[in-house]
Amino acid sequence: MGEPDPHAEPQAVLSPLTRTAIFLVVTIDPGGESVVRDLLPDLAGLRRAIGFPAPEGRLSCVAGIGSEAWDRLFAGPRPAELHPLKEVAGPVHRAPSTPGDLLFHIRAQRHDLCFALESQIMNRLSGAVTVRDEVYGFKYLDVRDLLGFVDGTENPEGSAAEEAVIVGDEDPDFAGGSYVIVQKYLHDLDAWNSMTVEAQERTIGRTKLGDIEMADDVKPPDSHVALTTIVDPDGTERQILRDNMPFGSVARGEFGTYFIGYARTPDVTERMLERMFLGDDEAAHDRILDVSTAQTGTLFFVPSADLLDDPPGPPGEPAAAAEGPPATTIEAPADGSLGIGGLKGSAE
Ligand code: HEM
Repeated sequence: MGEPDPHAEPQAVLSPLTRTAIFLVVTIDPGGESVVRDLLPDLAGLRRAIGFPAPEGRLSCVAGIGSEAWDRLFAGPRPAELHPLKEVAGPVHRAPSTPGDLLFHIRAQRHDLCFALESQIMNRLSGAVTVRDEVYGFKYLDVRDLLGFVDGTENPEGSAAEEAVIVGDEDPDFAGGSYVIVQKYLHDLDAWNSMTVEAQERTIGRTKLGDIEMADDVKPPDSHVALTTIVDPDGTERQILRDNMPFGSVARGEFGTYFIGYARTPDVTERMLERMFLGDDEAAHDRILDVSTAQTGTLFFVPSADLLDDPPGPPGEPAAAAEGPPATTIEAPADGSLGIGGLKGSAE
């Protein structure tokens, strides 16, 4: 990794919504780090190999790296706000924090393209990782979730989207990156369908057919839209970029929404989660949770495309030593050993 690049090219985080996606979360097996390190710079080439002959398919792949994996893979500084996702346990509903070292968010207009790229990735990772979750998402009707509501309307666009999701000068080594939180939700469609459309609209905070937001004096404080609207003390609204996808299996009675939210800082998405699960002064919790159960939850850092092409060296390589001796004195362990085992912990 060279000097910080203020113009680092992001991965395809901002690419427009597609008809289909694969969400693949894996953990790295002990000793699998070098296989993963070898793959990351080759991802762009694999995507080109499959996507180039089918430009109308708009194949893209975003790779994210989890907090613990970062230190196993790379030496040197780490993204300032990368940490394991905190579980949010409310009195009624719980957002779990589940294992995940790598996320591959593969999107295209055609499922076969996503599938082909996923196969190539897993061929390369064979024997080095364990798959924790694999979800095939699809666009449903006119961009609706399986609750029947249009999902994605209030996403930021253009420069507002870039401003909301791409890391800038606040963390120069990782400019062009982004943070992403994923959660897999399963819906209780029997309970949902037994509600009137008016009750469903009060749950979401928008009309069902027309997708129009309710006026503030009508929208219930425990609606999904009310609790996911985050406003800073100075009145600035904080946004994230979502690309949720329905998924499911009719045979298994499984109907879900895969939530994926990109943000410049994970703090914004985490505040949304806290409000959804813990409520606020006026709301006990987000009513959408009464029919939607979070099964997974993981936070990843998405390095810029440039950093992915030329990642930092592995832990323990001279890159870290080149920064010079630390300012504090390191005392020799009392047992007289060199204390080499302690080096691992000092990187954290
Ligand atoms: C808005 C569905 C989970 C953040 C919406 C809307 C729908 C929806 C239908 C209204 C249309 C739109 O603007 O997109 C769902 C479903 C979820 C889910 C089915 C899973 C069961 C989440 C989670 C978060 C979130 C976990 C954040 C942590 C937002 C935000 C908005 C939104 C920021 C826009 C609010 C606004 O400014 O109007 N969601 N959502 N959603 N959702 Fe979700």
